[in-house]
Amino acid sequence: MEVVAGGLNEVARAAPKVLAMPRANLDKDPHEVAAMFDGVARGYDRANSVMTFGFDRRWRTITSHVLDAKPGEKVLDLAAGTGVSTAEYARGGAWCLAADFSLGMLRNGRHRGVPMVAADALHLPFADESFDAATISFGIRNFVDTKAALVEIARVVKPGGRLVICEVSTPPFTPIRFLYRKFLLRVMTLFGRFSSSNPEAYSYLAESMLAWPDQRAFAQTIAEAGWHRVEWLNLTFGVVAIHRASKPPLNSEA
Ligand SMILES: C[S@@+](CC[C@H](N)C(=O)[O-])C[C@H]1O[C@@H](n2cnc3c(N)ncnc32)[C@H](O)[C@@H]1O
Repeated sequence: MEVVAGGLNEVARAAPKVLAMPRANLDKDPHEVAAMFDGVARGYDRANSVMTFGFDRRWRTITSHVLDAKPGEKVLDLAAGTGVSTAEYARGGAWCLAADFSLGMLRNGRHRGVPMVAADALHLPFADESFDAATISFGIRNFVDTKAALVEIARVVKPGGRLVICEVSTPPFTPIRFLYRKFLLRVMTLFGRFSSSNPEAYSYLAESMLAWPDQRAFAQTIAEAGWHRVEWLNLTFGVVAIHRASKPPLNSEA
């Protein structure tokens, strides 16, 4: 089944300020973010692999293990882009839905054969308690309101259901953190220039990585949004971290 509805992107395309080489800013206007990802969609997966030196594949595999989606489960992969992670999660037999508000990204992943839907993370078009688990990889730092999105995701996940988020993070070891911060912006800008259709967008992506909270602060936000048992796993020196949490069961005290 493939369900791709129109919506935000039509509005974004009509806005004159984002027509040529759109890039978002750290205020993360949803129209600008969607238009920017539309603009990079074609070469996105390739550029991503180049910029991460191929590590992205390993991060997705580990995220898939942490998610542990089982046959019979319904999993929402939010900000799924081209569905590269969705396809990985679906391998185990779970029904995995790719949701994203960039139609360009979804279109470029049609060949993956996973169900897709156009949806904004802050206003999900799903009934309460529809999914056994929700997951986001490298998407949440682009949301205009992180906590509101985490509350909205909790609404559509069943009591006791899981949340797994893979996102860039802060290396805890000072020398690595120093090098990472010093070179990230330059390296991404350079790679973006040579391997992407919209180099400006890669400057935004690097800026949003540097501005993203560290592991502990993000865990705190997840807990404040009502999720329980928040924990995280550092990958590749903490350049990336996977946060895992669960929605309190119905009979929970807290
Ligand atoms: C860096 S890409 C990551 C794509 C994919 N998850 C991956 O791992 O390659 C970020 C994605 O988040 C999507 N996105 C950002 N904000 C969103 C929102 N509020 N609702 C839905 N999708 C959003 C963008 O359209 C983009 O496809």
